[in-house]
Amino acid sequence: MDKKTTIKTAQSVLLSSSKVNEKGSDGILKLQLLPYSHNALEPYISERTIDFHYGKHLATYVDNTNKQKSGTPFADMSIEEIMLSASGGLFNNSAQVYNHYFQFEAFQAPNENNAPTGNLKQALEKEFGSIDEFKKKFAEVALGLFGSGYTWLVDNNGKLEIQQTHNAENPLTEGKKPLLNLDVWEHAYYLDVQNARAKYVENFWKVLNWSAVEKRFEK
Ligand SMILES: [Fe+2]
Repeated sequence: MDKKTTIKTAQSVLLSSSKVNEKGSDGILKLQLLPYSHNALEPYISERTIDFHYGKHLATYVDNTNKQKSGTPFADMSIEEIMLSASGGLFNNSAQVYNHYFQFEAFQAPNENNAPTGNLKQALEKEFGSIDEFKKKFAEVALGLFGSGYTWLVDNNGKLEIQQTHNAENPLTEGKKPLLNLDVWEHAYYLDVQNARAKYVENFWKVLNWSAVEKRFEK
């Protein structure tokens, strides 16, 4: 993918991109509200975790992006353009803004009928054998990530793959289209399950909104 295509892809798979990129008249990116209340994901992800993860961690990444882009050629760019053009601290902060909204927009209140359907279901079964096998492999990759980062399901030129990235890194920088991500920084789960990352991954499936993942897959 060339850079222009990558930016377009980044914007199309972040379903809330236009909202995320809303700026005040001062050019400052605002922290956007989540599409659910902070206690909506309980008992799997607590209100306290969302208060900190969204209200403190994501808010700080938005603040830092604003500070670091101000007065530079990045000032008027979208979050996707910044992430795919910047390096160092501005890359880290803007990618963290993207990665967090990408995850939070794909959560929903726990739902018993929570499963992939349609073309995505078929593609997952073709690649991994079954949805259970996919979840098992995804958990293995999430548990195998040393330190901070993310586990992703990506579409790599039509082939579904599970990938891990470290720190703020994002598969779009390698030209892969992300479909879902799981934040495995300790700040995402330590308040709820302490060091039990496996429990956190198990809980993640309960609140994942597969229809958001399907929308991204169809883009
Ligand atoms: Fe996080």
